[in-house]
Parts: sequence; structure tokens; C-alpha cells
Amino acid sequence: MTDFKRYLVTAALPYANGPIHIGHIAGCYLPADIYVRYQRARKRDIKFICGSDEHGVPIQIRAMKEGTTPQAVVDKYHKIMGDTFQQMGISFDIYSRTSNKVHHETAAAFFKKMYDDGLFEEKETEQYFDEKANTFLADRYIVGTCPVCGNENAYGDQCERCGSSLSPDQLINPRSTLSDATPIKKATKHWYLPLQNYEPWLREWLLEGHKEWKNNVYGQCKSWLENGLQPRAMTRDSNWGVKVPLPNTEGKVLYVWFDAPIGYISATKELTDQWADYWQKSDTKLVHFIGKDNIVFHCIIFPAMLKAHGNFVLPDNVPANEFLNIEGEKVSTSRNWAVWVDQYLLDFPEQQDVLRYVLCSNAPETKDNDFTWKDFQDKNNSELVSIFGNFVNRTFVLMHKLCGGKVPNLHADVADKADEDMIAEFEATKTRVENLLEQYKFREAIFEVIDLSRKGNKYMQEKEPWIVAKSLETNPEKQKLIDNCLHICLQLTANLAVLINPFLPFTAKKMLHMMKVVDKMLDWENAGKAKLLSVGYSLREPQLLFRKIEKEEIEAQIEKLHANMVKPATTSDPAAKKAAKDAKAAARAAEGKPATTATEATDAAAPASNTKAEIVYDDFAKIDLKVGTILSAEKVAKADKLLKLEVDLGFEKRTIVSGIALHFSPEEIVGRQVVVVVNLAPRKMKGIESNGMILMAEDKAGKLHFVNPDTKVDEGSGVS
Ligand code: 2FM
Ligand code: ZN
Repeated sequence: MTDFKRYLVTAALPYANGPIHIGHIAGCYLPADIYVRYQRARKRDIKFICGSDEHGVPIQIRAMKEGTTPQAVVDKYHKIMGDTFQQMGISFDIYSRTSNKVHHETAAAFFKKMYDDGLFEEKETEQYFDEKANTFLADRYIVGTCPVCGNENAYGDQCERCGSSLSPDQLINPRSTLSDATPIKKATKHWYLPLQNYEPWLREWLLEGHKEWKNNVYGQCKSWLENGLQPRAMTRDSNWGVKVPLPNTEGKVLYVWFDAPIGYISATKELTDQWADYWQKSDTKLVHFIGKDNIVFHCIIFPAMLKAHGNFVLPDNVPANEFLNIEGEKVSTSRNWAVWVDQYLLDFPEQQDVLRYVLCSNAPETKDNDFTWKDFQDKNNSELVSIFGNFVNRTFVLMHKLCGGKVPNLHADVADKADEDMIAEFEATKTRVENLLEQYKFREAIFEVIDLSRKGNKYMQEKEPWIVAKSLETNPEKQKLIDNCLHICLQLTANLAVLINPFLPFTAKKMLHMMKVVDKMLDWENAGKAKLLSVGYSLREPQLLFRKIEKEEIEAQIEKLHANMVKPATTSDPAAKKAAKDAKAAARAAEGKPATTATEATDAAAPASNTKAEIVYDDFAKIDLKVGTILSAEKVAKADKLLKLEVDLGFEKRTIVSGIALHFSPEEIVGRQVVVVVNLAPRKMKGIESNGMILMAEDKAGKLHFVNPDTKVDEGSGVS
């Protein structure tokens, strides 16, 4: 089906447990907004749905942390998040919340129909229960002694010291992280969705039917399906959430990942009486914008639910983005390593579009990407100010100076190839931007728009109307050349306003004001046209679209980021546990292992850990690691820490200077095998050229240990 009559665009319902950071915006809200604004400009019938996800463990943890109730938490953050989205120009048609009555009713009815149709499996299992806190415990909320390494603070699903995957039953002396009590085992009944039954259908619908989905999304789904799906509990023991609509189920609620996506349906119901057209007519194009940690839920579990329930459209696409790191490190809300959007708006008032620009042009569309303040400054100063803003400003200044503040005529008799080529670019750019947006390639699309203004600058530079103006006294005919150049530059400015509007709507508005035209001009069908502004029409004085961002402003932001960062929280800090849990859940998602029990992780938000920013395999593959044997070692004069080593790599012998002298004497290391980074650029240390680096492990006490093969191997053996 390609002839869609209406569009339904959803953006992941964020947990109402904290403010919005730039990773959220870059991950899904900005691309969704650009897509929707573009489709609206094309006059499509479209609804843009979002709201707060107000259930689940993340909310309860936040309430514990703030010493308040889950209700108070969601009330507070629903407001903060909604305001931030609005200020950033994220133009939802509705920003609802899953605590609404209509949502509780919709989600409960959805569950009940599936139950009545016999689609759930009922299972009784024994789960850990905290009698003091009066609650069943998710695996992450149980700690105890690791049976492998003896770590007394291993989690119920993993020991972070030795890396072993565990189940709560394996822990010695388990205790609850909520109350420190020893949990007891208690039987509990839950309703499971037998996902494995939907596997053949999912393979056909998704793997066969949606090969066009982004590689990162398709790949993750394929891996989940290849690993085999298992029944997944759709209910939880808790008092916070949508109550299970069955008799004798006091203390049981729907799994947050069951109710949250139904939130898209309830929000549409709240928005329009025609909600069923959008959800149930097959000529609707449903697109879910999400971050990568939500892929399995939107591509496998929710579609399986929709299919099982029946009478619903399925997503046509799920263009999930990867993660955005900050200054080379993963975003961590618990360590406060994040750029908060409400803070940004205080420090850079009225500069929403600068952030929108930077986040779009550097969007983590195919891989994790990095946001740095330096890049923010560069993109603003060298692209928005120097290219786009400069072109529009020059055009207006010159039009006022050389054409009396009015749109000049286009004189066909003196028009040349450069003029024609410039005009032809309007249409060509429109087509390219359109194709890219339809394919969810927002980075490339915004590049095309900026590139068009770059071409405008080049065209003007070649035409030099300010130089031509100098010869007007002797040759008044030359005014025609000036007119042509500025006529075309003004029409180009109008085109730029239409094209930039989905990306930078605040800027497009300012441009409309300068051109004294109404919103209607931003209709997409106007892009590509060369007669948007009428000849003789008088225009306003230019208004600066962007301002330069100074070095000091950026330095202040970097300082703020570091100053606000909190040290890793202690093990009794629920936020730290959430961060660790998130990291684990994301890792599991990447491995394609679903959380399946009724106590396992309920969410998989942006992971946080003390690891470096994620790299792709190609980054790792650039490092050439080989095994070598130390032939000789000697201290380096006037350098306490350095040893000069001769290392046999099989294919050659190398001199390597290594900072290990405080840990090893030269004698004790001769003959040892080591792993060497052999393609590291040579570096001089104390006048000696070092040609490689030895890998060492540093333990918690700061002592160094060699990393080497467990048995002697040939020198030059590769390590990967
Ligand atoms: O990851 C999150 O923040 C989830 N609250 C997203 C839910 S999306 C949808 F299912 F509602
Ligand atoms: Zn361990």
C-alpha cells in the first residue's frame, strides 16, 4: 500500500521521571517533528501523537529518590517535559499522559479482549518478595554474594565485578535493595503473551515485508527473531499502573510496556473522534519514531499485540535512531552527564533553532554520535551564521541599497546561464530534500538546504552586484544585472524559507516577517518555484537570523557540564541502580535477549556506565594488536616511571617505552609475552622513539598486570 490517505506519527512516550535532555530530542522528537512539519506543509492529513509514560518502575524509583509519591512525580515531570517540547517547537497535536482515565480504560479493554480471546498463557511462578517494602522485586533490586567471585554486592541478574550473568536464585544471602530485608519466595500468577506463536508471522511481515527499514532497526529485529522469542509476562505485581481488569487481581497491573504503546491509541482517542480512522483503516501510514532502546517493543511486541487483538494498522516504518553521546561519553542521568534542554533554553534564549540544527545535522541516524559544545559552536558560526544567515542578510542589505527595498525585475534580455542554473537548483534541491525526508534521512536533507544557501552565496559572489553598482553612473543599463541577481537571490530566500521550515521553524517565521508574507507561503508546493515574491513588492529591513556564539559561552557550558557531574552513586542509590540496569537492558537488547519474566527489567532507557562511548566494529578493526616477547628491559634515565623495552614481534623487533617502571623491575619482565598495539604512531619519550604500546590491566588498587595469552604463542600472532 503506497497511496496513504492519512498519516499517524507517534514519538516514544517518555517516562515522566526527569527533564528532557538533548539525547531525547535528537533520538526521536526532532526527527518526528521535522517529518510531521514536512508532511503538514504537503497538506497531508496527519496526526502527531505523544504524551508522558507515567507507569512502571522508573517512576517508582524516582518517587523513592525524591521522597514523594509516584503521582507527585508524574505531575511534576509531565508539566516540565510538556513545556520543554513546546518551547523547542516540537509540534505534537497532543501531548497526553498515561494516567488519564481514557488511557486506563483503553489499555484495560485491550488486555481484556486479548484475555477473552484466550491469547494469554497463565503461569504461576515463585518470585522474590520484600515483606518490609511489601513488593515483589525486579532482579535488579536484589543484591547478594556472587557465587563465582564472592562480590557481596552482585545484582540479581549480573555481577559487575566478574561479569557473570546471574539469576536471583544464584545469589548467596540475597537482600532487597529497597529495604535491606532478606526477600522471601512467594508464588505469583501472571499472564504471558506467547510471543513465539507470532514468530512466523513476524518473520513474514517484518523480515520479508520491511526490508526497507533502517539497517540498525532491521538488524536488531532479525537478531531477536533468530534468537527465538519466548513468552513474555504482560502483568506485574505492583500498585502503580493500569489495574489488571480481571477478578481477584488486587495488586496486579499491566506491564508498563503493554500499556505504554496503547497510550498512542488512547491519546489519539483524546485528540479526535475520528481516532478509529487513523488506527483501523488500512490506508493509514503509521510511523513510530523512537530511540534504539525501544526497538524490540515497537517492532516486535507491540505489533504482535496489535495483530493478536486484530483490527489495527501496523507500523509502516520505525525509523529508530541510535544514541547521542556528550563530549565522548554516554549520557548518564544518574551522573548528570547530560545537556538538559530546559537549561539550554535559559542559557541560549530564543535559540531553539541552533540546537535543532546541530542535533539534526549530527543526528545519530545510523550509529551513535557525539555532541560536543565545540561542534555546536562551529556549526552555528560556520554554517548557520556564515552560510545561511549571511546569504539572507546580504540579499536583504543589497536589495535595500541597490533596488530601493523592493523586489526588482527579472530582465530576460540580460539573463545568463548562471541565472538559469541558480533557478534550476531550486527545484532540484526541493526534489532531493523531499526524497531524503520520505526516507527519514534528516541529516542529508538539512545538508541540502544549507547547501542551497551556499550555492546562493557563490552565485552572488560571482555576480558581484556591489561592484557592478560602481559602474552605474557611466552605464545605467547595468542596473538590469543588479536587478537580476537580487531578484533571483530574493526568490532563493523565499525558497529557503519553505525548505528550512520543517527543520528550523522559528527561523522560517523570521524570514516570513522580513518578506512580509503569510504562513501560506511555507506550503511545500511553493518550494522549487522561482516567482514566490512579486516584482515591486517592498520588503522589510533584514533581521539577523543567527548570532555568533563566542568561545567564552562554550567554555562556560563545558565547565558547567563537568561541574554538575556527580560522582558514581553508591549502591544504595536507586538512580545508580537504574543506570546500571538500563545499561544491562540495553546490552541485552543489543544481544537480542528479551527480558521475559515478570520481575525483569521494565524499561531500557539510555544506558549509563563508566565505559567509553560506544564504537562500531570498524573503529576497533583499525587497531592492530599482536603478541610479542620482551627481549630486554632497562630503566630510562631521569624518568621514574619509564622502562625501555625491546620487543620481538616475529616480523620485527621494536623499541617500546612503557610507563610500568613503578610496578615491575626490568629483570622480572624479560621473556614475558605481551600484547602490543603495533600500529600506534611513533612517539618520543625522553628522547627515545617508542614504536607501539603494551596493553596492561589496572586493578582497583591501581596495580598494573600484563595482558597476555594464557599459553606461549608465536610472536606476531594477531589479537582480536
Ligand atoms: O523508553 C522510554 O522512555 C519509554 N517510556 C518509551 C515508551 S514508548 C511507548 F511505548 F509508549
Ligand atoms: Zn562475581
